[in-house]
Amino acid sequence: MCGIVGYIGEQQAAPILLAGLSKLEYRGYDSAGICVRDESTGNVEVVKAKGRLRTLIEKTDDGHSVIGTSGIGHTRWATHGEPSENNAHPHCSDDKNVVLVHNGIIENFQELKEKLVKRGYTFYSETDTEVAVKLIDYYYKKTESPLTSIATAMLHIRGSYAFGVMFKDCPNKIFAARKDSPLIIGKSEHGTLIGSDVPAILDQTRNVYYIDNMEIAELTKDEIHFFNMDEDEIEKEVVQIKWDAEAAEKGGYEHFMLKEIHEQPRAVQDTIGAYVKDNAVDFSEIGLKDEELANIERVYIVGCGSAYHVAMAAKYVLEDMTQVPVEIDIASEFRYRNPILVKNSLVVIISQSGETADSLAALRLAKEKGVAVLGVVNVVGSSIARESDHTLYTYAGPEISVATTKAYSTQLIAMYLFAMRLAQVKGLLSEEDCAKMIAELNELPAKIQKILDDKERIQWFASKYANAKDMFFLGRGLDYAISLEGSLKMKEISYIHSEAYAAGELKHGTISLIEDNTLVVGVLTQSNLYEKTISNMVEVKSRGAYLMGLTTYGNYGIEDTADFSVYVPKTDPHFATSLAIIPLQLLGYYVSVAKGLDVDKPRNLAKSVTVE
Ligand code: M6R
Repeated sequence: MCGIVGYIGEQQAAPILLAGLSKLEYRGYDSAGICVRDESTGNVEVVKAKGRLRTLIEKTDDGHSVIGTSGIGHTRWATHGEPSENNAHPHCSDDKNVVLVHNGIIENFQELKEKLVKRGYTFYSETDTEVAVKLIDYYYKKTESPLTSIATAMLHIRGSYAFGVMFKDCPNKIFAARKDSPLIIGKSEHGTLIGSDVPAILDQTRNVYYIDNMEIAELTKDEIHFFNMDEDEIEKEVVQIKWDAEAAEKGGYEHFMLKEIHEQPRAVQDTIGAYVKDNAVDFSEIGLKDEELANIERVYIVGCGSAYHVAMAAKYVLEDMTQVPVEIDIASEFRYRNPILVKNSLVVIISQSGETADSLAALRLAKEKGVAVLGVVNVVGSSIARESDHTLYTYAGPEISVATTKAYSTQLIAMYLFAMRLAQVKGLLSEEDCAKMIAELNELPAKIQKILDDKERIQWFASKYANAKDMFFLGRGLDYAISLEGSLKMKEISYIHSEAYAAGELKHGTISLIEDNTLVVGVLTQSNLYEKTISNMVEVKSRGAYLMGLTTYGNYGIEDTADFSVYVPKTDPHFATSLAIIPLQLLGYYVSVAKGLDVDKPRNLAKSVTVE
């Protein structure tokens, strides 16, 4: 997805902008550009490049050839118009007075464009962004006020946006504004900054302000002012970002994904630690009171991609532990199916980024229908975190690789803790049994580490199957939820066609796809379903499949059926997903590496999907 950086200060802007943009590369992009103003001459220079940021860096001699101490930069992930230099941001008004970068989508851009054409404007690109810059220019020419022109344009634009804006004839200032697209404002020792994500400005500062929907920020080299749509000034508190700058780097690993896989013991531990006090689950800090939990008669869990897979695992755990019916939904389905949300229910929205457009829309729909929302979110201050009634933060830290691993693992932990607390409040889990479960949870980090320590076997197996055309993942119950996530990990980074099936469902059609040597991964962590899934594995083996079995230590009988077996430590069966997913993450990772693919930035994908 697109990225924004802006800077105004005492130092040369272009190197700072390029360094910030390089920290946003993980979001996915296809072109990049910067605009810098030389405050001494008033000269404004725009440089763009299609493809990798490296091209822009080379074109500008690491930014040194672009003179000036204020500017805005952008990495673009094409939505309107092909990836090209012409469509790349920044975009300018015809007289080059107004320059703008934009994340998000302007839904009524066609309608606005027609109006501007009638007023004599011409357009050089296919983007919705050019409409925004020309609309601001139109109001600027009428009002001669940057603030009024941005505010008036915002009132006419429908959709989502984060803007960075400069006016040639308003020196020593840059502006930022947002609606439904993330943006933060930073203050460093030598200047002020804007960034669409924390890593973009973390090298410069840890002191940030969160700009809210329909607000505008005006930045000079040493001051930041915030305004609402009436242009009244708003006071904001500075927030200290605690992320370690190192945490946003690869830390010696070949890829972010491998680093993040290895961070899971720590991330899981931190998430448990945040909500377990004195051997009990404690949600008092997030304001989720026992009385509120006691009233819950139904839970809806909504998310996209891996977050939806967490929802599925959570459904099995919650229903088993709490006897509360749980419905799960993919956010893009939930938001358009006019869901019937019963009274005394709770909607849980799971999202790493907290900015996924469909998940955010699902949250707003739930609130419109008068149902309380619990957000399970990783990015602090993100839209879903701020708009939820209660937010259970996960403590994964910054996740850079597009394929989620540690955020997924921490989301599982958050949902186990939620299930445990709800079961206790409903009188279905004694204090003693809860303490036992907490003890099991506390053992998960070491058990994950043990699986990671044995990763070479998976690496070897992955190299054998790197050329596979198709793969299938089978499991029942929780093992089906694990299979879905294992299959997604495989397909998104290795580009191998892969499907997950509830093991009993295969014989209703899909088994016809099994041929000699098709790789089938059977997941068997649930002892009550073990024999059933073994039977399904035998069915595919007799049709030529090559079988990998993933089960717990002790189930050595699997070797009679599977051609290659992987064991994970035993745990409470409710928590099995947390262990069984690790070998499947490693399998996807090593197949991608063996194929020489761009593991952290798979094709066509973005880390944060802020468009629907
Ligand atoms: O930021 P979110 O958790 O809301 O993102 C949801 C999905 O886009 C995300 O899980 C996606 O499926 C990942 N690429 C999976 O690895």
